[in-house]
Amino acid sequence: MRGLTFLLLAGIASCENTSPPANIGILLFPGFQPLDVIGPLDVFNALSIQRYIHTFFVSPTSTPVPFGAYTLPWFTPTGNFSSELEGSFIPSYTFDNIPPMDILIIPGGIGTRAPSPRLDETIKFVRDVYPKLGYLMTVCTGSGIAARAGVLDGKKATTNKLSWAQTIAHGPKVKWVAEARWVKDGNIWSSSGVSAGIDVAVAFVAEIYSEAAAVKATNMLEYERHTNATDDPFAILYGLTNEKNSTNQG
Ligand SMILES: *[C@@H]1O[C@H](CO)[C@@H](O)[C@H](O)[C@H]1NC(C)=O
Ligand SMILES: *[C@@H]1O[C@H](CO)[C@@H](O)[C@H](O)[C@H]1NC(C)=O
Ligand SMILES: *[C@@H]1O[C@H](CO)[C@@H](O)[C@H](O)[C@H]1NC(C)=O
Repeated sequence: MRGLTFLLLAGIASCENTSPPANIGILLFPGFQPLDVIGPLDVFNALSIQRYIHTFFVSPTSTPVPFGAYTLPWFTPTGNFSSELEGSFIPSYTFDNIPPMDILIIPGGIGTRAPSPRLDETIKFVRDVYPKLGYLMTVCTGSGIAARAGVLDGKKATTNKLSWAQTIAHGPKVKWVAEARWVKDGNIWSSSGVSAGIDVAVAFVAEIYSEAAAVKATNMLEYERHTNATDDPFAILYGLTNEKNSTNQG
């Protein structure tokens, strides 16, 4: 009887250890790219009607976080349109009071180019929290923040192809992959530019939860997903090849 109880408990414990992640934090910083946040978020939103999911926004302070480049004090516009992109996202938690988090999503955007020390606290947060995560997901130039935190060192990753040179400079020890819609290395999933964040999130759902869950989510979103991680029309557009532009592959 005691043996049976032990077996049952062991079974429950191993079930818990392998249970799919449910708690998803999304990092916010001024000048984030809205689709990098909303794209993956809506994939998990679609998943949330199939299973329990908890999503939330994290930021250094509880101050609403604007996405518009023109709100950034350090941003120098190339044209003089004086565009006004109003609207901010409200952080759910600050770095010092986050709830259990299985996955952290780091978006990209103009804000990733903020001069030091503006992102220092955010980069430190990523460095400190990474060992406690089940998974890290980066979208677009969000991999530049992960690279600066050192968590991509020795790992394969990709980024936005328009911002390639600028972003890979943040991670000299990263194995940057030029021709990729998204890349998975261990528990780190990184994607190419902006809309590729939807594809990496869908690929993640397909692998970690189930293919059926991914299909149900994309059908709900009426989204035609990219299923080939190495098919990258934007690498071609910007003249990037694995041979010339991928790094540290040897
Ligand atoms: C930008 O445009 C505004 C309005 O047309 C004008 O007042 C301002 O002087 C311009 N600034 C620069 C730097 O050209
Ligand atoms: C890709 O590699 C080629 C050859 O080294 C180089 O000329 C080019 O600048 C690289 N492209 C980018 C965007 O870094
Ligand atoms: C994925 O895309 C790459 C690049 O276009 C292509 O070479 C490869 O055959 C594709 N794989 C599949 C399974 O279609």
